[in-house]
Amino acid sequence: MVVLFCIIYLAVLAVMRLEAFDTPLKIALLMPAAMAAMLVTVLLNQQTAILFVVMLSLGILCASNFMLAPTLFAFFSGIAGVSVIRNMRKRFDLVKSACILALINPLIIIVISVALPDPVNDLSFLIAMASVNGFMGGILVIGFLPILETALNTSTSFRLMEFSDLNSPIMKKMLLTASGTYNHSIMVATLAESACREIGADPLVARVGAYYHDIGKMEQSEYFVENQVDGNKHLALNPRLSATVIRSHVKQGVEKAIQMRLPRQVVDIIAEHHGNSVISYFYNEAKKLDETVDPENFTYPGNPPRSKESAVVMLADVVEAACRTLEKPSVPRLEKFITELVNKK
Ligand SMILES: [Fe+2]
Ligand SMILES: [Fe+2]
Repeated sequence: MVVLFCIIYLAVLAVMRLEAFDTPLKIALLMPAAMAAMLVTVLLNQQTAILFVVMLSLGILCASNFMLAPTLFAFFSGIAGVSVIRNMRKRFDLVKSACILALINPLIIIVISVALPDPVNDLSFLIAMASVNGFMGGILVIGFLPILETALNTSTSFRLMEFSDLNSPIMKKMLLTASGTYNHSIMVATLAESACREIGADPLVARVGAYYHDIGKMEQSEYFVENQVDGNKHLALNPRLSATVIRSHVKQGVEKAIQMRLPRQVVDIIAEHHGNSVISYFYNEAKKLDETVDPENFTYPGNPPRSKESAVVMLADVVEAACRTLEKPSVPRLEKFITELVNKK
């Protein structure tokens, strides 16, 4: 935001010195206010973007020696940018918003030229330029966004949509090497997504987080119960070793996610999906052999969830895994069982 602000502020200062830009409205047309506002909306959020537009307009007011026309244009064009881009899901929607801005910007110019007493000589030229300003703003967002979202590693809805593609190589590999985990992840994603929608958290973050939450299981998939088709591998291991293998899927998942440059929120979900809970089955087995066993060796290495989405994925994960094992499931039995699981967490 600081970089965008400085670029636009300096651009106004530079343009003020040029002969060609003799009228305030012409200065206004060079300001990529809508583009800046759209970038902030997608990369951060709408509230921040509105605040940014206000600050930017005040900056332009100072830089332009208190001329109202460029300030008002930057403000209204910026607000238009924020409102056309919210709730966008696909990159193609950005092209649509560029076209909408190409129509809104000329309207802003007409209103300003009518409302302000400054003389306007070539209104048709200004209208055409305002339209170009709006359209180019939208198109430049398409160009800058992939670079900025990768550099900042933010989870924009566009990037999350790309990661939610089940045809990606990693998800296909999971289907082949750990089909049980794959099915489990899809179920967790469905549960977490609808739960997040209910509580006003971000359903898309939860869905992508759930798809990838167990990617750390892929290397040793046969040690996880959902993938075991021919016998339990843990029967041949001592409980301590079993717990080590189970625990490692969190760390390996985080490493894989960082390698794949998954958004930070998704990496957090992977790191936190078991919190710092104890792997009770193997802990109890170990206790049968040796009373003095250290629970530290049977504890997941993560922290408890810090975001709503992460907490929802954690709950969906235990619920999905545990309900598979429930014998003769009925609605009342499931409801009771799920309430117990959730309260325990
Ligand atoms: Fe897990
Ligand atoms: Fe899981």
